[in-house]
Amino acid sequence: MSLKSYNIAVIGGDGTGPEVVREAIKVLDAAAPKFNLKLNYTYYDIGGERYLKTGEVLPDSVLAELRQFPAILLGAIGHPGVKPGILEKGILLRTRFELEQYINLRPVKLYDERFCPLKDKKPEDIDFVVVRENNEGLYTGAGGFVFKGTPNEIAVQESINTRRGVERCLRFAYELAMKRRGGQPWRGLKPEEVKEGKTAQLTLCGKTNVLTYAFDLWERAFIELGKDYPKVKRDYTHVDATTMWFVKNPEWFDVIVTDNMFGDIITDLGAMIQGGMGIAAGGNINPQGTSMFEPIGGSAPKYTGMNVINPLAAICAGQMMLDFLGETKAAAAIEAAVIKVVREKLKSLAAGRMGYSTTEVGDLVANAI
Ligand code: IPM
Ligand code: MN
Repeated sequence: MSLKSYNIAVIGGDGTGPEVVREAIKVLDAAAPKFNLKLNYTYYDIGGERYLKTGEVLPDSVLAELRQFPAILLGAIGHPGVKPGILEKGILLRTRFELEQYINLRPVKLYDERFCPLKDKKPEDIDFVVVRENNEGLYTGAGGFVFKGTPNEIAVQESINTRRGVERCLRFAYELAMKRRGGQPWRGLKPEEVKEGKTAQLTLCGKTNVLTYAFDLWERAFIELGKDYPKVKRDYTHVDATTMWFVKNPEWFDVIVTDNMFGDIITDLGAMIQGGMGIAAGGNINPQGTSMFEPIGGSAPKYTGMNVINPLAAICAGQMMLDFLGETKAAAAIEAAVIKVVREKLKSLAAGRMGYSTTEVGDLVANAI
């Protein structure tokens, strides 16, 4: 078998970002030779430290270079010495937008019931994916101030929802719902739905009762595109109710599609029910371009350099990256190793309480492959 080679851009970023990315790469490098892969890493020094030293956030030249890679592995962005918004908007959001990573894919999967804060929920109850629109909504920066700083000031922040942007997101979600279990019916379907030929469920999470323009467009597009996917059962929940069901009945979800802001909020809750930020990973995806994979927790400044942060979320981001690159067997091997370590070794998924250090957890997963 011939060796397959991939060029990966790596941004360790701020806080504990570099520490967790190091463990992700340790695990990727343990898996690569077993699956005839060669991963070539190019490191980029981007983040709060560089900004404080040089004033540079994300130089255009770096962004141009990033475009040349199929994938970016990102640690974390966010620095206590930098005003909130500068790095988030200048690095994370700019990359998402300029590289047209229009999907933010966030799996919510419980690996061990010991780590679930919900009573009586088991791994089979918490296994869904959120497809968050990643280029539009409230995140575009549309809006502005009038009379800023005066008693009459007005702040407007507009949600942008284009038919094209919504459709491409919905289409991605439908396609994912179709292929997620290799066509095997999702366990939440009723027997009569399976008999009708349904294999998956796609839930649109919105707010059609109040946001009657934005989610009217979403809902119409959802129904119209759904005609191309007769095997996918369509479902709708308001965002507020969605948070309620995440806690009460997470087993009701298979694939969820939603806008940028709602997706941001519900995936933090999703991360908690799967065991916390220590394990939650996501992918910023441009199916035709450069995608970026990241642990979804922040830079955790107070744990920086202490070798106590959980690297599993970054390791899972690496796993998602391989999966996206088409290396599904290598990705599955990493996931199996993570599950083994979570179930057999770790005392907790929280920083400092795992029973092992950051580097030891990386070693455990790498050795389990
Ligand atoms: C996330 C983060 C970002 C977001 C912030 C850091 C801009 O919360 O990736 O979910 O809001 O998208
Ligand atoms: Mn968030």
